[in-house]
Amino acid sequence: MLELVFATNNAHKLEEVQAIVGDRFVIKSLTDIDCHDDIPETGETFEENAKQKTDYLVRKYAVSCFGDDSGLEVDALDNAPGVYSARYSGSRDMEKNIDLVLESLLDNPERTARFKTVISLYLDGEQHFFEGSIEGTIITERRGEGGFGYDPIFIPDGYTKTFAEMTAEEKNQISHRAIAVRKLADFLNS
Ligand code: IMP
Repeated sequence: MLELVFATNNAHKLEEVQAIVGDRFVIKSLTDIDCHDDIPETGETFEENAKQKTDYLVRKYAVSCFGDDSGLEVDALDNAPGVYSARYSGSRDMEKNIDLVLESLLDNPERTARFKTVISLYLDGEQHFFEGSIEGTIITERRGEGGFGYDPIFIPDGYTKTFAEMTAEEKNQISHRAIAVRKLADFLNS
């Protein structure tokens, strides 16, 4: 069985990815390889940040690995919050981060946005990238209790519910992360 390290300690992400990739690969977390470092994430693009994670693991542990970076891009905000999605307001408080997006847009009618994920994979000495994105609209006030992050203010195109009003199963069928992970899985299983 092939082992791949996923540059995360998020058990939920790990489980989701393992389920999509299947059992030809055993996916290990950072804790599983005894990595407790704060891996730098200082890039200006999702791609750079995802690659920083795999570069770090390759250099320090010489393992086959992948890492991801995601965020929300709002067209009217010049693609902000982008790579700063987790700390847009200067804090990791998602209530404040959502408030800042809503205040920055105010009643601007141009509310198109997308969630994006980039996965960097380092396998057999080669670097690969997989991208997933989902287009949608930022609404004017929060709706729904599920999900996380900016889910309560994002309605994907073709739907009437926000990500936060969907079940985890519904969201995981269509999300940016699921799209990128399915591309990774197709590549690994090809
Ligand atoms: P990460 O790179 O997956 O940790 O995502 C960085 C940040 O982007 C998160 O802290 C969230 O604020 C935002 N984000 C990423 N994916 C999602 C999502 O599926 N829903 C809502 N917010 C998300």
